[in-house]
Amino acid sequence: MAEKMDILILMGSDSDWEVMSEAGKLLDGFSVAYEARVSSAHRTPERTLKLVREAENRGCRVIIAGAGAAAHLAGVVAGHTLLPVIGIPLNATSLQGIDALLATVQMPAGIPVASMAIGKAGATNAAIFALQILAAADPVIAEQLAAYRRAMTQKVESKDERLQEYRRQQK
Ligand code: RP5
Repeated sequence: MAEKMDILILMGSDSDWEVMSEAGKLLDGFSVAYEARVSSAHRTPERTLKLVREAENRGCRVIIAGAGAAAHLAGVVAGHTLLPVIGIPLNATSLQGIDALLATVQMPAGIPVASMAIGKAGATNAAIFALQILAAADPVIAEQLAAYRRAMTQKVESKDERLQEYRRQQK
């Protein structure tokens, strides 16, 4: 039987991996099974559909799709599945990701894509958003997300303490 997959990360090209790997790094800290695959909405449309069907058959619950340029990957995937699709616009052309942002975010009514920010922050947030979707029915992931938030809170508090200390020393 095929291995279980909770989340599928798709990207239009291997040149997207430098940014998309941020999603993988985030997911590595959580109890989820994910796979990262390259497939293009334009260059390999049939292969893209095949990967979506395979993911569905393996129990995948969320698809993350990142692409640059005329970035139709997330939208095309969303048109082929009822799974929630999270899109990440990537900076791959002289338009610096604005092209991909508009292509990803401007979906016609009826086929939503949850569009994240351009680039690495978008890739990280796509992973967190996917986990939040899974956490609605998975208390283990919910607790891991709560711990992630607590750690983030502590980091901000430490940064504030360092700033206060620095300001005291300046006086
Ligand atoms: C998009 O075109 C890909 O997602 C990538 O961001 C961009 C350039 O792809 P390569 O020419 O590097 O394969 O489809």
